[in-house]
Amino acid sequence: MKYNDIRKTFLDYFESHGHKIVPSASLIPNDPTLLFTVAGMVPWKGILQGTEPAFAPRVADVQKCIRAGGKHNDLDEVGFDGRHHTFFEMLGNWSFGDYFKAGAIEMSWDLLTNVLKLDPARLRVTTHVSDDESTEIWRKVAGKDAIRLGDKDNWWSAGDTGPCGPCTEIFYDFGADIENEDDRWVEIWNDVFMQFDRDANGNLTPLPKQNVDTGAGLERWAALLQGKVDNYDTDLFSALIGATEDIVGVKKTPENIASFKVIADHLRAVGFAIADGVIPSNTDRGYVIRRILRRAMRHGQLLGHRGALLSKLYPALITEMGAAYPELGREEKRVVEIIQNEENAFADMLQNGIKLLDNEIPKIQNNILPGEIAFKLFDTYGFPLDLTQMILREKNIDVDVVGFERAMGEQKERSRANTKGTRTLWESQTQLPATDDTTKYAPDDKLESKVLAILRDGEFISSASAGDAVEVALDKTNFYGTQGGQVGDSGELKNLDGQTVMNVGEAGRVDNIVIHKGTLAADLHVGDVVKTVINSAVRTQTTRAHTATHLLQAALRHVLNEDVEQRGSKVSPDSVRFDFSFGRPMTAEEKQSVEDLVNKWIDANMDVKHEEMSIDDAKSRGAMALFGEKYGDTVKVITAGDVSCELCGGTHVYHTGEIKHAKINKEKSISSGVRRITMSVGTLAE
Ligand code: ALA
Repeated sequence: MKYNDIRKTFLDYFESHGHKIVPSASLIPNDPTLLFTVAGMVPWKGILQGTEPAFAPRVADVQKCIRAGGKHNDLDEVGFDGRHHTFFEMLGNWSFGDYFKAGAIEMSWDLLTNVLKLDPARLRVTTHVSDDESTEIWRKVAGKDAIRLGDKDNWWSAGDTGPCGPCTEIFYDFGADIENEDDRWVEIWNDVFMQFDRDANGNLTPLPKQNVDTGAGLERWAALLQGKVDNYDTDLFSALIGATEDIVGVKKTPENIASFKVIADHLRAVGFAIADGVIPSNTDRGYVIRRILRRAMRHGQLLGHRGALLSKLYPALITEMGAAYPELGREEKRVVEIIQNEENAFADMLQNGIKLLDNEIPKIQNNILPGEIAFKLFDTYGFPLDLTQMILREKNIDVDVVGFERAMGEQKERSRANTKGTRTLWESQTQLPATDDTTKYAPDDKLESKVLAILRDGEFISSASAGDAVEVALDKTNFYGTQGGQVGDSGELKNLDGQTVMNVGEAGRVDNIVIHKGTLAADLHVGDVVKTVINSAVRTQTTRAHTATHLLQAALRHVLNEDVEQRGSKVSPDSVRFDFSFGRPMTAEEKQSVEDLVNKWIDANMDVKHEEMSIDDAKSRGAMALFGEKYGDTVKVITAGDVSCELCGGTHVYHTGEIKHAKINKEKSISSGVRRITMSVGTLAE
């Protein structure tokens, strides 16, 4: 049975048993305690906890999940066996105060043995030591004596707090000829009886309703229904591995199969996460995705492949999974662009970092890589610690993690001490000409820029080396330097051969000078000519967010009153923080009306005009300006349909539909008379 048929059989079964079938929720959970959706129950946490009403007594779905960080983390296991995945699909059925232990166990058994026709003799079950009731039900329903286990095996919760309870697990026996017990016995379904809520101190309180949460790994079902021991031999993974063979030009062998598995797995995690709105970055879930992507590249390199890999494989992912998950195809252009940007940025660094590591390995004593080297790999070549560890594990070498942390702490200290001073240092460079950043609105890939100044460790220097943390001023740039609340671009400086010279984490601005801040990947000299390549996928998202901010301000004035004034804002990729004058909390209805109005304007796909004019003309048009802000004689005016007209130097979309969607997350007071709204925009909001 192929993946598509298994999904359908599962959902049809539960639909015919009174369950409402719902689509998978996003991998980005609406839950600050989790980085990703780690299980099918994550979207239903509020219902299980009793803080949200159930929309149906019985529900079933196939949920996209990622387990690659925090309490549920399978990242290190991937590739070394046939069972682990960072991304996987969880089949699940729920009862919200409807059936309980008997109903859940009966249906699980019926589906497995009567519908899927699994041999009952091959199935074994476990229950929690405290759970006599489930144990008795198993005897009655299946004639099975459950194996009784403790909390480690048979108690389940998504995070450290929240709904939890005892569970019963069903295992499939792949046969006595499989020696390794872990390969022989595979857990194929977990029925959790959510009876308690755990607080931060570990106290358990009985939940108002007794609920059922079940989860089954689709990949494992596919393996056993296709007669395979290894999930990676099933139809879906064989296709992804085949596509990888074509791209890297190497066939799988028992020696290199781990790399093929890692790439297939990581393609799914990276592809699905970015399609759902995750942007690779240096923090939180963005960093998890960046790490996974970089590990995949390293495995591509082990197969002899150089450069872009996952971006080339993404179409194969759409072929395999696009029918079940239309978002993959819908988001293709954006996802591929984001992956390409990441891969381009890391490709050269990966080669250079490996070279450094190859030089260091012969010097290693006691099989431990010094923390400073691991830190240099991290800081200069963008190697996440776990990538370095993974590479060295193959050679039985450990990393001095404490030394790594120490080096990291020291660098943070240095940069804290530095950033305080750098603004004044730049201000003192009065001979520096203003940066010509006129191409920032339509970045010009022909632009060649000259390095005018390099600042390192509080000093202006004429040349710096690979690995140095520097700030660089150029005569011209495509980068948008932080201004008017919009965060600056990230990207790269490249030499004219296209090699990365500097990874720019952020472009800042001191008066008229755009400051490119980041780490050098090669030596750089004053006078060098470089290309300024921005991370365009991130820019697109920031641009959407900026126009959305204007719509938000207009909507607030509409719904609340015309006196609402902007007090500050921060426009980041895909999200907005907007501070405004208003004397009381907004009601739930007001928030909803504002959000609805912003979305109405987005859906209307109004034209957004970008014009330059004199400040007087702008004023006579009624353009809104920020109180207390200085403006030049010529100003840019951004007009969205007939709802908003503002003076603004930021980047903006040309049609409001490009914003896609907006969602208000929070509204709170930040000082007397000033409120703050945070809003997600674009894919994240969708
Ligand atoms: N939430 C349970 C699990 O993930 C079903 O195993």
